[in-house]
Amino acid sequence: MKGKFISFEGSDGAGKTSVLRAIRADLEKQLGAAAVMYTREPGGDHISEQIRQILMDSKNTAMDARTEALLFAAARRQHVVADLKPALAAGKVILCDRYVDSSIAYQGAARHLGEQEVWQINQFAIDGLMPELTIYLDIPTELGLKRIATHRTDEVNRLDKEQLDFYHAVRHSYLRLAEKEPARIKTIDASQSLDQVIADVKAAMHAKFTDLFANEF
Ligand SMILES: Nc1ncnc2c1ncn2[C@@H]1O[C@H](COP(=O)(O)OP(=O)(O)OP(=O)(O)O)[C@@H](O)[C@H]1O
Ligand SMILES: [Mg+2]
Repeated sequence: MKGKFISFEGSDGAGKTSVLRAIRADLEKQLGAAAVMYTREPGGDHISEQIRQILMDSKNTAMDARTEALLFAAARRQHVVADLKPALAAGKVILCDRYVDSSIAYQGAARHLGEQEVWQINQFAIDGLMPELTIYLDIPTELGLKRIATHRTDEVNRLDKEQLDFYHAVRHSYLRLAEKEPARIKTIDASQSLDQVIADVKAAMHAKFTDLFANEF
């Protein structure tokens, strides 16, 4: 049996988690819950989750940017071995909220570590395991941040120029990746209504894997 590895990418507030909730539910209805694995990075087995705790700990303000990038890559390595490869071997469809493109865009471009350098440490981590399909939810920076700000009101006032520059860099890195790898990365206009974004994502998944959502088209 051979599984399918699909990653979902996009800036904060693009709608990855919202879209994935719907896609996961519909796919589980179609294939059965056991045939679908939803996962998100950083995270996975208990070792990756412990690394996630270090990365997410707001007390770790002194963390160096390269340390951060290496920890993301370490968590990814463990995720690949403990979760992704076994699921693929079992023939499951993997829906993964963020993968290696996030590191290239956030650490490589926005944190200025270099996209190529971050790709190199991640190649060591993933050892060739790339998604067959990556859904990139593209959204204008300001709209993505506005969506998040309605929930996290404390962040509204912190939308300074530095933050905007950071998220512009994230977006443009994603757009460059999508241009470079059109066979793997499908760009979806995430500024549309949630229903339309979900429909476009399903169509992109169906175009790549004709057995997925087959009865909907
Ligand atoms: N197409 C849409 N139209 C309007 N609002 C949306 C749309 N998609 C998502 N939202 C809302 O935007 C907010 C952010 O969405 P969501 O959490 O799914 O984004 P995300 O890409 O997972 O972000 P993060 O990277 O921070 O996890 C949520 O409040 C969600 O309800
Ligand atoms: Mg999310």
